[in-house]
Order: sequence, then C-alpha cells, then structure tokens
Amino acid sequence: MIPFYKHNLKKDKNYLKKIISSTYLTSGPMCEKVENLLKKRFKTKFAILTNSWTNGLISILLSLNLKPKDEVIIPACTFVACANVVEMVGAKVIFADIDPLTKLMDIKDCLKKISKNTKVIMPVHLYGNLFNTYELKKKIRKDIFIIEDSAHAFCGKDNKNSLGKFSDFTVFSFYATKSITCGEGGAIITNHKNYSSKIRSISNNGMTKPAFKRFVNNKYIPWDVYSVGFKANLSDINASLLADQIRGYSKIANMKKKVYQKYIKQLKDISQITFPKQNFNKNRDFYLFPIGVHQNIRDKLIIYLLKKKIFVTVNFKSVTELDYYRKKYKKTHCPNSKKWGSEQLSLPFHTKITDKEIRTVSNEIKKFFSSY
Ligand SMILES: Cc1ncc(COP(=O)(O)O)c(C=O)c1O
Repeated sequence: MIPFYKHNLKKDKNYLKKIISSTYLTSGPMCEKVENLLKKRFKTKFAILTNSWTNGLISILLSLNLKPKDEVIIPACTFVACANVVEMVGAKVIFADIDPLTKLMDIKDCLKKISKNTKVIMPVHLYGNLFNTYELKKKIRKDIFIIEDSAHAFCGKDNKNSLGKFSDFTVFSFYATKSITCGEGGAIITNHKNYSSKIRSISNNGMTKPAFKRFVNNKYIPWDVYSVGFKANLSDINASLLADQIRGYSKIANMKKKVYQKYIKQLKDISQITFPKQNFNKNRDFYLFPIGVHQNIRDKLIIYLLKKKIFVTVNFKSVTELDYYRKKYKKTHCPNSKKWGSEQLSLPFHTKITDKEIRTVSNEIKKFFSSY
C-alpha cells in the first residue's frame, strides 16, 4: 500500500507532556509561544491561532462586518471552504477563473469582476504555488481587503515576496494532511492592530479577555463583551504540536521539493499528463503533487491506481460545479476552473515516500497509459 499522506510528527517527542502538567489546556502560554514564532517568521505585528483555517476566515469576515450586498472574490477552483465562509457570514461570492497554466486565480479575470461592492479578494496559493499578491495589490482600490489563503504555503522564510507582506490577512491551515499539522488548526497573521483584537475577541465568544489574560501578577483583570462571537480559538494541547514543526519547516519544505522533483523526472515524458506551471516565484512550497489527465479517463486512472493500492484522490473541483453553488450562482462562467477541476488528481506525496514508491507510482501510471 502506498499511502497518500504521512505526517511529520515524531513519535519519540512527548509533545503533550508539558501541557498536561500545566494549568492551561485551552489557549494559554503555548498558543502565545507559537504565535510569537509566527510573528517572527513572517515579520508581522500580530498572529492569532484558531482551531481551523475555516473558523479563522469566518472570524476575519465577521470583523470586517460584511453586509449581504458585499462581494468577496475567490478563485473558482479551490477548496470549498473558501466559498463556504463567505456564505456563512451572509455576503456574496464572486468567482474568478483560474489561469489555465498555473491554475492560480487569473488576475485579469479577477480585475474584471471587481465592482463597487467588492470588499475582499481572496487569492489562494494553490498546491504551494505562490499567487502574485503584490501584482494584484498594485492594481486594485485601496479599500479592498486582500486575504491570502495560505492553507498550502508556509514558505515565508528566505522569500522576498513573503507571505503576509502585501495582504491584509494571511491565513494558514494546520489540518491533518497539511505540511505542518496539529490535527485541526489554523493561524492568521496581520499588521492591523484593531482588526487583530476584534478577531481575537470574536474567536473567543466576543470576550475582551481570554481566561489566560485575566490574571496578571496575581491581579484580576475584568472582561466584557461588546459584540457577539463564537468559538474559534486553538487549545494549548493542539498548539504544543506546532512549535517544533514551525522551527524545522525548512527541512520539511526541502524534502517535499526533492520528492516533487523526483516525480517530475519520472513523469515528464508521459504526453497524456499535464502539470500546473510554476508561477513567478521559484521560492514556493510543494504541498501536493497534482497531475492533469483528460477528463474522460481521469476516474479510470484513479480506479486503476487504487486497485494497485496506490492512494490517490481528487482534492479540488471547481466550486461552481458543486451542487449548492451551481444552483445558487447560475450565471457564473469559469471554463478553465471547470476543466482543471475535472482533469486533476493528486498522487501520494509526503516526506516519507521512498524512491521505490515514487517509481512504483510512476510505472503504474505509464502502464495505464500504454493501453491508451
Ligand atoms: C485551499 C484551502 N483553503 C482552506 C482550507 C480549509 O482549511 P481548514 O480545514 O483548516 O479549515 C483548505 C483545507 O484543506 C484548503 O485546501
């Protein structure tokens, strides 16, 4: 069996030991420590850990106080959470098509879709391939917020065009399959002081002080609620898994880059396969290994590989083709997203995959195509 994913947590590290013997199991000193690591890494003033990317995004959109007519532009081919969070806060999703080569949001199509109601644009660094946020920022009105969906990229270090530099908010995911994980989790980085404290409060039931900040030097600090919130804070238990992975991320990123290059070497001559083209910035991340094959044979290839015990999956479809969104947003036309959504599949891709396994996957794909 060749698994799709393996995490990088180390069995011999007792990540949870310290937390279990401490007072705070919920958001406390461990979360603060991880937030400090994030601020340092991405050179932002604020970092807020959340219990998922999804809840982090909902907290941000609530802090922006969006109204039903307000529009949020997202790329059509992405994970459905990007659209769901906009629907959840009662605003309007506007789908921009993707570039047919890079599979990232097409800036030209995005610019065409900006209206007087546009409040937010949310580019996605899909597969770790970096969207050019700087290019977008130069071309749009100053009152439009940019939220980078960085669920697939964490490569701020050594990166000139670093994550969080040209956007208002950048949001990471620490979901189980992500390159850094704590099972379920997320983080927001930003330089906006006011929004940062609003988001922190919204993500903790609207309270002005979390439990951890109510006792300082043996003094009780009173708290209040000025607006409603919900529960989106991360626990210290989860956060305890993150610090090591953040510090050692360059190693994880290098290993994944090497696996990516080995796959490319094996698969590049198969004429029936396409790969997303690298965007402007080579200093990117490699989160998944996606390939594109003709839509008439994509599912056959998946069935063939699964029979050989090679675990592959379809990670992203065009959101515009999912039943709820197809019915609600009937007039949307994003042909490149639709096409890529029906062609793509992701191969097993993680730091522990062996050269032999990469060869097996590649040889099985070659065998499958030799019969076509
Ligand atoms: C592009 C993208 N955005 C957002 C998310 C949502 O992340 P989370 O599961 O942490 O809410 C995912 C999760 O897979 C994703 O792939």
